[in-house]
Amino acid sequence: MRTPLVAGNWKMNGSRDANRALLSALKGSLGDIRGVDVAVCPPAVYLAEIANDLSGGPIAVGAQDCSDQEKGAYTGELAGSMLAEVGCRYVIVGHSERRERQNEDNAWVAAKFVAAQAAGLTPILCVGEQKADREGGRTETVVAEQLDAVLDAAGVEAFERAVIAYEPVWAIGTGLTATPEQAQEVHAFIRNRVAGRDPQVAADLRILYGGSMKADNAAGLLALEDIDGGLIGGASLDADAFSAIARAAGEQVAA
Ligand code: 13P
Repeated sequence: MRTPLVAGNWKMNGSRDANRALLSALKGSLGDIRGVDVAVCPPAVYLAEIANDLSGGPIAVGAQDCSDQEKGAYTGELAGSMLAEVGCRYVIVGHSERRERQNEDNAWVAAKFVAAQAAGLTPILCVGEQKADREGGRTETVVAEQLDAVLDAAGVEAFERAVIAYEPVWAIGTGLTATPEQAQEVHAFIRNRVAGRDPQVAADLRILYGGSMKADNAAGLLALEDIDGGLIGGASLDADAFSAIARAAGEQVAA
């Protein structure tokens, strides 16, 4: 039985005032949530105060990125141990926006994944194809390369303490959600690929969907066999929408 995870990736959004308002609404609407893990991933400067604010409650905190290095002369970077120390449980690695803008390649993402786990964090590894990959029939090839780089570097056992997020790049922030069939197909592909190395790890692995998941399309995606939650961008900035998605995930468990 996989407990779903619904995580909000705030990206570069927020301010102290906006964060306070959003979190106070979320604490009100999700204070009694059961059967689903919930997390918010705010910009790094706010992590410590938000983790303090949420400590002891049902909403966990994650970072949006971490260094592949433990410490040292890496100006501007944040070590996994620092994120863990201020109260993070999760860290997103390999988000497509960073793969694109910061030129993070598969080897670098794999090194971040390993470093995050070494610091006691649970990585949320993002994989997903570009529009041209899908149109060219290369979705599985691209996703397999992204996944294999991490499986090879970290070993399949590492996925006992990790989460994968399938985020088709063409669906992020575009309002173009993958259809439930398209998403389920890739989620099953990912699980089968991990199962090729260890069936039990694959069976227990949470695979989230990300890409324009909203309150009105979440239930249809979350009902599918291999979709174990969501990594939510835009809708995670709206307390009602994010709470509705988390509740929809909880209802799938109850169903
Ligand atoms: P949107 O939900 O805004 O499409 O973003 C998805 C995403 O990139 C989450 O990491």
